[in-house]
Amino acid sequence: MKRHCRLVLNGKPIEARAGESLIDAALGGSILIPHDCRSGQCQSCRVTVVSGAVDDGGSGHGRTVLACQAAVAGDAEIEFEELPLPMKRAGAVTEINELSPEIAEVVLTTSAPLEFRPGQYVRVKFSGYPAREFSPTFRLDGSFKQVELVFHIRRLPDGTVSGQLGKAIRPGHAAHVQGPFGQAYLRQGQGPLVLVAGGAGWAPIWALARSARSTQRNREMVVVAGSRDADNLYMLPSLQWLIDDGGRIYLADQARAPIALPAPARAGGYGLRRRPRWSRRGREEQGALGQCAMLRRSFPAKLSNLIADGQDHPSMAKPRAALSPRSLS
Ligand code: FES
Repeated sequence: MKRHCRLVLNGKPIEARAGESLIDAALGGSILIPHDCRSGQCQSCRVTVVSGAVDDGGSGHGRTVLACQAAVAGDAEIEFEELPLPMKRAGAVTEINELSPEIAEVVLTTSAPLEFRPGQYVRVKFSGYPAREFSPTFRLDGSFKQVELVFHIRRLPDGTVSGQLGKAIRPGHAAHVQGPFGQAYLRQGQGPLVLVAGGAGWAPIWALARSARSTQRNREMVVVAGSRDADNLYMLPSLQWLIDDGGRIYLADQARAPIALPAPARAGGYGLRRRPRWSRRGREEQGALGQCAMLRRSFPAKLSNLIADGQDHPSMAKPRAALSPRSLS
């Protein structure tokens, strides 16, 4: 094996030493391969070996390897998805809308667009308050504007920041945004997307789902949404958008589904039982809306293909995998 090798990373040639990890080799050439744990766990550093060879370190899957585990073993050409670099933007609050008794939609208008991948998060500092991290998302009707950042923020009774929304923090309040950060973003791929969210965690999932329906239309997608109680099912308009667009939706039943979503406030929760026919791909699932008092009260009649019981879907067998970034790839 020669000691000095030539790597081409997304078309950029660099010199690399045999034996060093692909991440380190790339950094030596001032190229950042997106990564997180560096221990082979998070899968965020998976890259494609287009030509040549690397020592995959046991991480090979098809033509892909984990850049934190694979080592330079010769000349090779590597491709990976590049992420937008973190930037800073000044802006101001332009809207605060009540989505539910606990969750507010906060819209910031920034001086220039901030590029991010759906699912990433940014650091927001409302002037005079400590910074907090939130995921930008779409409006619940699926719309967006280039210079707007939309956040879903849960109000905490004693929250230093969230407790001031609509009080000291009102439209016109100055804010600074830094980002994007995070590895749980929408990746290219063919496999089914399983997106799970509860409460204000709907923000990044809605961003992922909405974006996937625009850019990866042939990809099967299952969305599981939940809430602590019916009053906080604020995501219903966006679920309706997904259903209208052909998406398949589950309303999570914490009492039965083995996923870590907030427990329904009332015993019985979303007790709807109808076995979805997941084996028939492409067939529209029909939820039995109206059999549960909570659902009947909460949902508009036209929300007819929402499945309110996640127990039967195979993805539920591995809840951790369903929530990991890789499952979003
Ligand atoms: S950084 Fe390589 S698997 Fe996490």
